[in-house]
Amino acid sequence: MTQTLAPVIAVDGPSGVGKGTVCQWLAARLGWRLLDSGALYRLTALAALRRQLSLDDEAQLEAVAAGLAVEFAPGADQGPLILLDGVEVGVELRGESCAAAASRVAALPAVRAALLQRQRDFRQLPGLIADGRDMGTVVFPDARLKLFLTASAEERAKRRYKQLREKGLDANLMSLVEEINARDGRDAGRAVAPLKPAADAEALDTTALSVAEVCNWAIDLAARRFEGLKIS
Ligand code: C5P
Repeated sequence: MTQTLAPVIAVDGPSGVGKGTVCQWLAARLGWRLLDSGALYRLTALAALRRQLSLDDEAQLEAVAAGLAVEFAPGADQGPLILLDGVEVGVELRGESCAAAASRVAALPAVRAALLQRQRDFRQLPGLIADGRDMGTVVFPDARLKLFLTASAEERAKRRYKQLREKGLDANLMSLVEEINARDGRDAGRAVAPLKPAADAEALDTTALSVAEVCNWAIDLAARRFEGLKIS
């Protein structure tokens, strides 16, 4: 029996570019599943921090990644609820300390390997929107549509600042720019699965664009790429 592989739209790009918003919107319009791969790296980092492990201890972090007890439950406007060991961790996960730790554990090849199959398991009919850094290059190299979003570091810091303030979290614009630059450097400079567009990716600089413009660009490409696509 041949199994039909579910179609995938891979959406990659640096931190704070707005992939999460665009991916949630696409998943809702198409009725497809959503993979927030960054959350898996953040969860690995959070679980390691809670156990007070060193963020350089590759073997221990690999075991943490392989054994993550994580659940994504349907949520409201802010996206799915994320549970670690049965407890909701969304707010903690979105914090900058978790983000910085995630980009350190994400540089370890054994951690990436431990999370690979878990990410591929999200691929189910009718389709998957995969949000990350290496969706089009490593995790789903056969994705039918690959999008790569960019924006200047200053613009991304501003967006992140606004997002954090809206959630009632403390934020400082200057330190966000610095953190984004540091994280970009680590994500693009690492030896395994560095952040880069797949050769067959459609790239868009979103610096001067609204969320609606980016979403429209993405759905237009999807409608042209996938025959008979149902858009609600
Ligand atoms: O996307 P998000 O900001 O949640 O990702 C947190 C960190 O996880 C990133 O800075 C990056 O280092 C890492 N990551 C990754 N590969 C992915 C998704 C995220 O290395 N596919």
